[in-house]
Amino acid sequence: MATTLVSAADSDSASPQATTNLSELMTRIVQPSSDAVFYVARTPPQTGEDWRRLESQTLMLAESANLLLIPGYVQAQEQWVRDSLLMRNAAVAAYKAAQTKDLAALEELNNALYESCENCHMATR
Ligand code: HEC
Repeated sequence: MATTLVSAADSDSASPQATTNLSELMTRIVQPSSDAVFYVARTPPQTGEDWRRLESQTLMLAESANLLLIPGYVQAQEQWVRDSLLMRNAAVAAYKAAQTKDLAALEELNNALYESCENCHMATR
């Protein structure tokens, strides 16, 4: 087993691979996790459990921005990379704001996050 893992790590199979297509990535991961930020003011987190859930969602959003940059999802355009990084920066900031239970910061991040989605969609869809 250990040998298999080591040799797998040496091969191409250790590099990240897309599991599905962009459309699924958007609707199943990016959209639900970003909605948690976009609608945060509508139903603000109250309990510790609410905040923990928001932490998970913003972390998922941040990591999904990384996925936009792996083979299978990435597109060879400067704009693509720029917008993915914009999305990642906003999502990482949202994750930190969720960790510190900073509702005002989360609301402020809405614009930057929205911009990253819209910029990329206008350029690539
Ligand atoms: C770096 C580029 C990029 C970024 C950033 C991006 N998207 Fe997308 N998105 C796309 C592309 C390309 C498609 C079209 C996928 C297809 O249909 O093949 C898409 C499609 C979608 C769809 C429609 C999927 C479907 O098939 O119905 C939704 C919903 C979506 N994006 C939500 C978001 C949200 C919300 C954000 C920001 C939090 C975002 N996207 C950020 C590139 C991006």
